[in-house]
Amino acid sequence: MRDGQPGTPIRLVDYQVPAYLVGQVHLDVDLFDEHTRVNATLALRRHPDAPAGADCVLDGVGLTLEALSVDGEPLAEEAWRYDGEQLVLRGMPDTFTLATQVIIEPQRNTALEGLYVSRGMFCTQCEAEGFRRITFFPDRPDVLSRFSTTVRADKVRFPVLLSNGNPVARGEEGARHWVTWEDPFPKPCYLFALVAGDLACLEERYRTGSGREITLQIYAEERDLDKLDHAMASLKAAMAWDEQTYGLEYDLGIYMIVAVSHFNMGAMENKGLNIFNTACVLAHPKTTTDAGFQRVEAVVAHEYFHNWSGNRVTCRDWFQLSLKEGFTVFRDQSFSADMNSIAVKRVEDVDMLRTVQFPEDQGPMAHPVRPAEYQKIDNFYTVTIYEKGAELVRMQHGLLGPERFRAGTDLYFSRFDGQAVTTDDFVDCMAEAGGIDLTQFRRWYSQAGTPRLEASDTFADGEYRLTLRQSTPPTPGQPDKLPLMIPVKLALLGADGAALPLDADGNTETVLVLTEAEQTFAFAVPGTQAPVPSLLRGFSAPVELRYDFSPAQLHFLLAHDSDGYCRWDAAQRLYHAAVTRLLADPSAAEAEAAALRPALEQVLARAMDDPAEAALLLTLPGEVAIGDRLDVLEPDRIHAARGALQAELGRQLARQWWQAGQACLTPGPYRPSAADIGKRSLRHRALAYLAAAADERVASHLEALCRDADNMTDQLGALRLLVHYRLPGAAQALADFAARWHDEALVMDQWFAVQATVPGEQTLAQVRALLAHADFDWRVPNRVRGLLGSFANGNPTAFHAASGEGYRLYAEALARLDEVNPQIAARMAGACARLPRLPDARREALAAALRDVLSRSRSANLREMLERILA
Ligand code: ARG
Ligand code: ZN
Repeated sequence: MRDGQPGTPIRLVDYQVPAYLVGQVHLDVDLFDEHTRVNATLALRRHPDAPAGADCVLDGVGLTLEALSVDGEPLAEEAWRYDGEQLVLRGMPDTFTLATQVIIEPQRNTALEGLYVSRGMFCTQCEAEGFRRITFFPDRPDVLSRFSTTVRADKVRFPVLLSNGNPVARGEEGARHWVTWEDPFPKPCYLFALVAGDLACLEERYRTGSGREITLQIYAEERDLDKLDHAMASLKAAMAWDEQTYGLEYDLGIYMIVAVSHFNMGAMENKGLNIFNTACVLAHPKTTTDAGFQRVEAVVAHEYFHNWSGNRVTCRDWFQLSLKEGFTVFRDQSFSADMNSIAVKRVEDVDMLRTVQFPEDQGPMAHPVRPAEYQKIDNFYTVTIYEKGAELVRMQHGLLGPERFRAGTDLYFSRFDGQAVTTDDFVDCMAEAGGIDLTQFRRWYSQAGTPRLEASDTFADGEYRLTLRQSTPPTPGQPDKLPLMIPVKLALLGADGAALPLDADGNTETVLVLTEAEQTFAFAVPGTQAPVPSLLRGFSAPVELRYDFSPAQLHFLLAHDSDGYCRWDAAQRLYHAAVTRLLADPSAAEAEAAALRPALEQVLARAMDDPAEAALLLTLPGEVAIGDRLDVLEPDRIHAARGALQAELGRQLARQWWQAGQACLTPGPYRPSAADIGKRSLRHRALAYLAAAADERVASHLEALCRDADNMTDQLGALRLLVHYRLPGAAQALADFAARWHDEALVMDQWFAVQATVPGEQTLAQVRALLAHADFDWRVPNRVRGLLGSFANGNPTAFHAASGEGYRLYAEALARLDEVNPQIAARMAGACARLPRLPDARREALAAALRDVLSRSRSANLREMLERILA
């Protein structure tokens, strides 16, 4: 088995066109209790650019081959070979029809790739390489075929039979029935999907701009039928938005979404038949938090947008994954911003990029947005491919401006419709439509690492001079870096806080395009007072900005800057500085809080103008983010310093926190509107400060909120604070919550997560107990993420406990998980990517635990991750 040899990477430079293409494929899938029989008929033809006589190679993993014929004749023994991973056919003609019959066992498939069973329902996940676990096929995105699919199953237990495209025929045979689906659009096999189950359906209609009527169906278990309205509304909003913003209409008569409980990722954009993790589609005020509602809106839109950016125009190979993912994330971010708040959405996205992607880019897993090599592509569904990829598209949007960017996307979709292309093709369209040279810009796609941007300035004789210096630290396999094209959006604020005119036209904002390692830009600034620079406005490039801001400048920016990102960044810088000083002198919490007080009071004073923004401005950086700024990670001291600051601010501003909470009450029924969500988030921010301060009234307030609230946002928020701050009533609230929500898996995932993230070493015993809990299930990725993922990624004081017990627990869990679901195990392993930055004793302890897992791991997924981390 190829899986047995460590470290054989696949390289971008080795790309070759496939020897054979598949024009048409018919699948006949017969679903039974013990096994499934798949008959496939493929119309193959030699690729015009393939070398004559090349073998025809089909992927197929773990298939039991029952029959094989070419043009209706059984194939001679010496003409074919199957090694468990690939079927090689020798001496084939230029065109031929291949028919295969295989047996697979979806009931035993816990890896959740290919065809599997989730709570009695058959479903598929084929991206990236799952289709080869269903039948023999050239499983690569540059083979686009027309699919027709017949699904057969017991008619009582599986009344709903779905696949891509349109249903064209159906029938019955005794206790069984069948439906045939036809997808008119050629597609790569990673977009294939099939579902069979006993499902309820919410159906509505949507009329496109050109007047076509589309049937929209969302399928789920009967018990979840009342949780589909938000997804339906989000889908319609996304369809309308894409018509307006990109001029793109849906192209089939029917669009289906199916909710499944066992799912490795968030959702999947299969043509006409999206399959969703229940966590990304179900929403109900009683069981779903505000964040959950917003996630559903974003993911439904994301998968819908893929119909063009991904399906109509797809990727040539998996190195180009960001072609569809980066672009589609940019599209869903813009959509969510338009639906809610542009400024708030931008800060949330930047925060996520800086706290999750920057560390990835600075650690052993660093890779370019277009990687040059990988072992398992599953390991490259990363924040770098997705979120940094989206930033690269955003920079091009910024460089071109909205109109020319739209011209670029029009060109892209018309030129490449029905094709499998590359990120270079995308940038070509932008350069052409924008009339700009993006040669240097392309380095963003091939160069890994977070660029550092150092700014310094002088002011004399009416001239302000800003010097920008760029450098990118080495990353694995890329010791030397070249200068990038970095758009730096800038304003200069005068003494009254207003932005100064920067040119004769009176523009107060400009984009400096840095292309050299160092450049100086000069501006005429009247008067004698140096302006305050508002740098990297809107976070115009994904870089780490270094500028020696004085505290006074940061307070000034927080008070006056018209750019939401810059205001938030100023607050973050003030908080980081305070925590850094506290790490050196833990006794200074009271003084540090007092120094921050005016800034917080001023934010609170105008908080009701935009409670969502205020909540962001009032959020201290998390412990993990603080640790990432330090040279050596010391989780306990970070926890103590941050906690002391939060508690002091809670105490000193107690009256204002209670006031803010009161002002943010949202009377009437729960609504997931941006306005109400903003109020709840500010209210919970205020309660967090009060909980940290152990305010005498807060525990009973939280208890009542947890018990009586009519919505999950308030209930769960209150529960988390009670439990994390160990307030009176916490244990009872946890027990009551479990009793109440026992039957709601997505709510119970949160119940596990709340307990796994209680700071401190004593949580390790609790995590062990929860691993043995009757409701914990290694086969359900949402549950594993809820317990183990939140423990390893969100609880540094427990995970990095000095005893090493956190590492042992985690390593045991990884090994166990690897047997069940290698993709999820590999993803969990990402939590150790900070290994090189740990202090000696901890680094050794974690490395030893991981080496032990590596020596036993049988999956290429987990091995690739561990090898990189331990390298
Ligand atoms: N294309 C999906 C998305 O919308 C992700 C699916 C990836 N699945 C996987 N097992 N790698 O982002
Ligand atoms: Zn996607």
